[in-house]
Amino acid sequence: MIPFSPPRIDDRTLQAVEEALRSGWITTGPRTKEFEKRLAAYCGVPKVIALNSWTNACELVLRWFGVGPGDEVILPAYTYCATANIVMHVGAKPILVDILDDFTMDPAALRKAMTPNTKCILPVDIGGLPCDMAAIMRVAEEARARFRAANSEQRALGRPLVLSDAAHSFGARYQGKAIGSQADITGFSFHAVKNLTTAEGGALAFNLPESFDVEALYKLFNTMSLHGQSKDALAKTQPGAWRYDVALPGWKCNMTDLQAAIGLVELERFDSETTPRRKEICERYSLAFQSDARFDLPLFKDDDRESCYHLYMLRITKATEAQRDAIITAIARREVSVNVHFIPLPLLSFYKGQGYGMKDHPNTYRHYSRAGPPACCRLPSCPVDLDQTCRTGGRGVSPSGEVNARCCPANTPPFSWGRGHRCIGGP
Ligand SMILES: Cc1ncc(COP(=O)(O)O)c(C=O)c1O
Repeated sequence: MIPFSPPRIDDRTLQAVEEALRSGWITTGPRTKEFEKRLAAYCGVPKVIALNSWTNACELVLRWFGVGPGDEVILPAYTYCATANIVMHVGAKPILVDILDDFTMDPAALRKAMTPNTKCILPVDIGGLPCDMAAIMRVAEEARARFRAANSEQRALGRPLVLSDAAHSFGARYQGKAIGSQADITGFSFHAVKNLTTAEGGALAFNLPESFDVEALYKLFNTMSLHGQSKDALAKTQPGAWRYDVALPGWKCNMTDLQAAIGLVELERFDSETTPRRKEICERYSLAFQSDARFDLPLFKDDDRESCYHLYMLRITKATEAQRDAIITAIARREVSVNVHFIPLPLLSFYKGQGYGMKDHPNTYRHYSRAGPPACCRLPSCPVDLDQTCRTGGRGVSPSGEVNARCCPANTPPFSWGRGHRCIGGP
């Protein structure tokens, strides 16, 4: 089986983790601090804090900015549930907007959704392709005049906060710069399937206006991530420095040195090995699919943006949702893990139950599911054996003849792929 996105765990990873274990520092310590410094240098920002997930890191941001009941946070309908869940956690209302054909937030839809209650904009770099951050920052700036600041942080910014969901896009570039230095704050995920992994993990890159004291902000987020304690374990080991205080009832979401040890190894080989390899895999897929009208290829690069090649978001033209699912099953039978990223939020029980619907997000649904418009399926773009992936994936997805989907449900209607290709429904 070609797995979905296995992590790379080799001797370098094992040695780095073993060294961390043997050092005695297995919670937040020198490796985490070093990882943060290197991430900040990579992203071109003054400060990065490493935490235990994107979810907890970005929830801290909403809490810090004072986002809560009565406030609105605008995000795309097409994203992973974490983007909306953190808004629910703080008691604010997620406002969903539609996407463009490249899966990123539509700035025009964002502008229409802005109200005086908008406290935060949460664009998502789906699949690793950056959003049009210049357009999104313009919309945030336009909101200054009617922004209702409710605390000192909101007064200092004077407009809605732009918190970028860059869970997929570490290493991507926007206008020649690494992702991290475009939004006010950028949240990364280092979950096991991400391009840069620490097993689980996340980080925040701070890029707020100069009126914010970034050193103080870094300290505050550290405190918030450790129950509001004024000192972390490392600081308390300094001679005579055992005394601490609790300034606020904080949370617990610090990164450990075991995670940072993996991250340091991964960061060191990110530009030289990881990204070139993912790019090579994505380009190989595109070469196989590009001259075939049955497929709509993902965008990886344009004048302003270059993806970090996290997902290969292939859309199958003219397939219904059921046919798309049958194709995925057929590919799985051929031992390739394929997935759909993502089921739009209004189609998930919880958000449906909150009254969200798909009718306001036609492009989101079009790209997720349907005939005529393309259906989306994600191919593995992890550094597995490339030839095996293309050979096996090729048999399932881009056959030179008929796609024999014997695993299609019995009631799946026959599906013509055009140019003589047919998917035969039924067992
Ligand atoms: C778009 C998006 N945002 C946020 C997250 C949450 O990241 P984490 O698992 O690090 O909390 C994910 C996770 O896959 C994601 O895909």
